[in-house]
Amino acid sequence: MSVTALVGLQWGDEGKGKVVDYLAADMDVVARGAGGANAGHTIVLDDGTKRVLHLLPSGMVRPDPLCLMGAGMVVEPWQMVSEMKEAGLEPSTASRRLLLSPRAQMVLPYHRILEERLEAILNIGTTRRGIGPTYALGALRMGTPVGLLGHREELRAWLQRMHDMVAGFGSGDLPDPLEVLESLDAVSNWLLSTTGNVTGELHRARAAGKRILLEGAQGVMLDLLHGTYPFVTSSSTTATGLAAGVGLGPSDMDRVIGVVKAYTTRVGEGPFPTEEHGPAGEMLAQKGGEFGATTGRPRRCGWLDLVALKWAVRVSGARELVLTKLDVLDGLEEIPLCVAYEVPGLGRVEDMPEDAWLYAKVRPVYEMAKGWSSSAGLSDPHVRDYISLIEEFTGARVIKASWGPRRSQMGEP
Ligand code: GDP
Ligand code: IMO
Ligand code: MG
Repeated sequence: MSVTALVGLQWGDEGKGKVVDYLAADMDVVARGAGGANAGHTIVLDDGTKRVLHLLPSGMVRPDPLCLMGAGMVVEPWQMVSEMKEAGLEPSTASRRLLLSPRAQMVLPYHRILEERLEAILNIGTTRRGIGPTYALGALRMGTPVGLLGHREELRAWLQRMHDMVAGFGSGDLPDPLEVLESLDAVSNWLLSTTGNVTGELHRARAAGKRILLEGAQGVMLDLLHGTYPFVTSSSTTATGLAAGVGLGPSDMDRVIGVVKAYTTRVGEGPFPTEEHGPAGEMLAQKGGEFGATTGRPRRCGWLDLVALKWAVRVSGARELVLTKLDVLDGLEEIPLCVAYEVPGLGRVEDMPEDAWLYAKVRPVYEMAKGWSSSAGLSDPHVRDYISLIEEFTGARVIKASWGPRRSQMGEP
């Protein structure tokens, strides 16, 4: 029996989709436990076919694994149905491949409208998918779990409540609760057909010795508690958050793997010490194709930040790493690696300051790594040196590294 959790260790978009798809070839179960359609996980098959999943676990792209979506997720019903259709699922058979927890909260038009209001004030640069308000109202016990779809009268009353509550924020014209109810009626059989006991299934699978992969979304630096607050998402993006989101305990996890991009990207606002505003940033964006899979926004780009990575390794409990996008650094003479910060009032520090406002003022201290001409096959000694530097600094072992988007462009260093 084995449970592996896989999480992103930066600000998301590390290549988790690719790595999950790669590992899913040997998995019986792939489960998501946090986030919603703010995620965009891209998988490129060896024939070049590209799939982007926002809600469904990336294990869906493989023919076999059972895919689970846990209570910690927030699910927009219409998006869910469109992804189910794209994956070739039908209500009559969907539950053979996909189980959704009735406890997962639904994202409704009211949440999106509320987010528009909040973004006008906060300017976090969210994905505007209604994620924050859905988690927040869930925490206030004013949420709408998927299971409510099976109780139409109660759902109608909750929608009215939600409408009245959001109206209290002065949010202008709001959709009529009956209209929302009707548009939910049009998709509820799809969602209910795939709703089931996710946590029960997961524990049964674990006891039966099945191989289980927990698929993280976002990245540790976007974690609500341990990320760069307030420029974070509204869920827990660590391995413990992921386990909690599917109903496993911390001791149920056998391995935690962190996915790391060979440089750094960030979408939305918030501090990013190694960001490059000039030609280097432009080069990384161009070569790395750094445009958000969810919103199409250009991603901000910069060098690998080992200080932030060490923090993320600790907070997530990752002992193993998968390094992606080495090919984007091909052809550079030397590559800056951030090994410390200059912090106002404190001087040089090698740990991430916990004070978010102080973090916005740190300056990176770089050491130079030697570049390489091609990372393909990972045979160049300077590629190996780069990997060793990451291992030494973080204390985690790089078990795989990738030099292209396709399934086969990944190997052991
Ligand atoms: P996720 O959110 O962590 O799943 O990452 P995204 O899918 O949002 O973004 C990662 C992007 O990088 C996708 O377009 C992948 O196809 C691509 N990708 C993954 N690994 C590699 C790699 O090693 N090299 C290159 N060039 N692209 C990669
Ligand atoms: P994947 O799973 C990159 C960012 C948003 C914004 C902040 C809050 O593809 O790695 P939210 O809509 O969650 O309230 O936005 O978090 N963000 C992501 N950035 N990849 C993601 O997911 C992200 N999910 C949220 O850009 O800065
Ligand atoms: Mg992404």
